[in-house]
Amino acid sequence: MAKRPAVLWAAALAVLLLLAAACTAAAAVTISRKRHHRGGASASSAARSCDPFAAAGAWVVDESYPLYDSARCPFIRDEFACARFGRPDTMYLKYRWQLDPPCAQPRFDGAALLRMWGGKTVMFVGDSLALNQYESLLCMLHAAAPVSRTTLSPASGKIDPSSTVRFEDYNVTVVYYLTHYLVDLVTEASGRRVLKLDTIDQARDWLAADVLVFDSWHWWPYTGPKQPWDYIQVGNTVVKDMDRTQAFTKALHTWARWVDANLVHTDTKVFFQGISPSHYRGQDWGASPKKTCMGETQPLNGTGPYPGGPIPQQAILRGVLAGMAKPVYLLDFTYLSQLRKDAHPTKYDGGIFGGDCTHWCVAGLPDTWNVLFYAALTGQD
Ligand SMILES: *[C@@H]1O[C@H](CO)[C@@H](O)[C@H](O)[C@H]1NC(C)=O
Ligand SMILES: *[C@@H]1O[C@H](CO)[C@@H](O)[C@H](O)[C@H]1NC(C)=O
Repeated sequence: MAKRPAVLWAAALAVLLLLAAACTAAAAVTISRKRHHRGGASASSAARSCDPFAAAGAWVVDESYPLYDSARCPFIRDEFACARFGRPDTMYLKYRWQLDPPCAQPRFDGAALLRMWGGKTVMFVGDSLALNQYESLLCMLHAAAPVSRTTLSPASGKIDPSSTVRFEDYNVTVVYYLTHYLVDLVTEASGRRVLKLDTIDQARDWLAADVLVFDSWHWWPYTGPKQPWDYIQVGNTVVKDMDRTQAFTKALHTWARWVDANLVHTDTKVFFQGISPSHYRGQDWGASPKKTCMGETQPLNGTGPYPGGPIPQQAILRGVLAGMAKPVYLLDFTYLSQLRKDAHPTKYDGGIFGGDCTHWCVAGLPDTWNVLFYAALTGQD
């Protein structure tokens, strides 16, 4: 794609500053393994596609990866465009997530997905980690239908609060909707910015979607200049601050109530991203505390628990989802992503963050999130 004009690039940057396997194993192997390990599991249950997030797994080199050439994808913003900014190593593009024990999973098929989504709207709602997965998915769909006409709106690529790509020949609409907290953040007449943990009026914009993928958490811990609000409000109570995990929990409940009130009786499919890990603390993966993801070129071997342990908010998210009437599919990729200290943009992000160990290169890890998303989508009826 032609480079964005500087003005538009600056607009995108402004938004960003605000933002801050297919399994190749044969089914026969699956059946024998399941019988062996689980005794009671029948051949018919083994023939069903497996839950891609229930199994353990490991990153294995697969020469057929990456799934597309990022240089040919017109949708990658600078902050994820590691190859564009000269990242020299390429092994990070070559890893496939291999489930263990192997189970029958569909290979990602972008053309099939475009056909399946004909006439539909797919929407990612959340912070820049949702944007990360969204852009990867756009590339994967584009690679499957490179001559299909696409329309970007607004044409500037500005996200305010959303950005949409339509695959015109398939009548598929893919939207990214920016919201860091899911609940409402309002600027009152007095100018004070209030994070309202129990209102979610902006959600009316999400009702048009047939498939929704949400995420949150990443912005909750920010304090100081990066914190985009002055007060938190719950009901009639306004406070200067509160425990951030508690605030996150309240907001998730508000979100869950909205989903249950509006989507239980619809065919809308609802997904939630697992919490995406960052790699700023080497001790999390057995390196020195000063080590970050800078210069990392290899994943960790996934043979046991991640040394840094799970992210505590994962349990909160699971708890909220478990209490909902609407089935929400958790794209539970936290652990497999924790192993990927090698997959961040680091300094190859056009100078936007400078040492980014939070987001992920595109092409790269989010492609695997989408492979698993595809498995989840096609495993559902
Ligand atoms: C695209 O999908 C929408 C929503 O299902 C439908 O109303 C419209 O007729 C479709 N357009 C074409 C050209 O198929
Ligand atoms: C990971 O596994 C590979 C292959 O089994 C091995 O060569 C490598 O040394 C292991 N790395 C670590 C850090 O244990």
